[in-house]
Amino acid sequence: MTKKAWSGRFSAPTDQSLEEFGSSIEFDKRLFREDIEGTRAYAKALLKAKVLKQTEYTQIASALTKIEKDIAEGKIKLTKQHEDIHMNIEMLLTDRVGEAGKKIHTGRSRNDQVVTDFRMYLREEIISIKSILKQFRKTLIKLSEEYIDIAMPGYTHMQKAQPVLLSHHLMAYYRMFKRDSQRFLECLERVNVLPLGSAALAGTGYNIDRKLIAKELGFSSVSKNSLDAVSDRDFAIEFLSDCSICMMHLSRLAEELILWATAEFKFIELADEFSTGSSIMPQKKNPDVAELVRGKTGRVYGSLVAMLTIMKALPLAYNRDMQEDKECVFDAVDTIKPCLVMMEKLLKTATIKDVNMFSAAEKGCLTATDLADYLVRKGIPFRSAHEITGKIVKHCVETGRDLFQLSSKDYKKFCDKITEDVHDHLTIEASIARRNVIGGTAKNQVALAIREAKEDLKRA
Ligand code: ARG
Repeated sequence: MTKKAWSGRFSAPTDQSLEEFGSSIEFDKRLFREDIEGTRAYAKALLKAKVLKQTEYTQIASALTKIEKDIAEGKIKLTKQHEDIHMNIEMLLTDRVGEAGKKIHTGRSRNDQVVTDFRMYLREEIISIKSILKQFRKTLIKLSEEYIDIAMPGYTHMQKAQPVLLSHHLMAYYRMFKRDSQRFLECLERVNVLPLGSAALAGTGYNIDRKLIAKELGFSSVSKNSLDAVSDRDFAIEFLSDCSICMMHLSRLAEELILWATAEFKFIELADEFSTGSSIMPQKKNPDVAELVRGKTGRVYGSLVAMLTIMKALPLAYNRDMQEDKECVFDAVDTIKPCLVMMEKLLKTATIKDVNMFSAAEKGCLTATDLADYLVRKGIPFRSAHEITGKIVKHCVETGRDLFQLSSKDYKKFCDKITEDVHDHLTIEASIARRNVIGGTAKNQVALAIREAKEDLKRA
């Protein structure tokens, strides 16, 4: 039986079932590097506070380096008896350096230690997610440039609405992922605050130089209230919320790719390398990547809701409930990263069926608004122009034709102000070119948006 660090107060050993139940080592071992780095910085502060002698500090620092290497190489068995990564590392340190190791937890608590590790971990992951997002945005820009001349139907209510450029559609996603990236950056600012020195809840009783630790560990500031510092998990909730929003965007894109790849739409063909078949139906080619991304979105939302629920009734300060925070965040990190990577691959390798997109834009009177606008230019108030155009569309629906298939004579029956030039006015190209407003789908506006996005990415 391994002796517990807290055994002094107890007369009976922990039941094995509680050891199993309470241990977090299976998942928080992921934090070993952060825990060691944090411990090293804390040792430095203890040295400055004269709790450790120089020789003790040197012993501790070199043992920590060795422990880190040994864990990384799988040479050490981390145990449930020591509950979590913090206690495991402290025990290893004590085993290796004896009395000096026993001093490392002076004025420190696992409560400030765990949240320090967690913030360091999250900091790195945010940077990594941001860089994957950057790659994703780069691809969106590249595809938008490539498809700048492809027209497609734009939809509202999933009903054909007005023609747009495919690149305009893709750049809409660029905007979403740019905002996601900004959100992660803002989150990083709130993550990067040092809690260590807050100890269990009231602040450490030793002369610990918190600013020194912050500098050592790359934190941009130190927490201002010890009770808050050990019990705040807002940063994790904020991160999960940013992940959820980003996943929601990915899921919308996934949904569109799934639809576009159907026989009914035929707007795209997904690459064989990123599609799957059926075990029974030989003809099937399924968009599993996009479906998995859509499905995994629910999983990330689940972590956000779990985290909000875990925290909602916790009195100050630390409560063990908070141990549940890590799996939520780890799972979200392990989900969002491959989702971004896979969606980028799926998008990049899809073949665009530009002819189908264009002909879909030509069916369904998508330039009806342009016709109403044409009448407005001829001096008819918009509401009346809308009414006249509605009647023309009704006629098209009844006769199975489209606006551009009506002759000038047909048009005249509805309004004598319509002349020959109406046909030029109602083409897909003319409709798109007319949306020449900042943020509109006209080619030069989309090209401008692409240029701006490129500049933006250079700075990111
Ligand atoms: N494993 C714990 C967690 O993840 C570390 C903090 C434990 N603190 C305590 N007072 N039991 O939250």
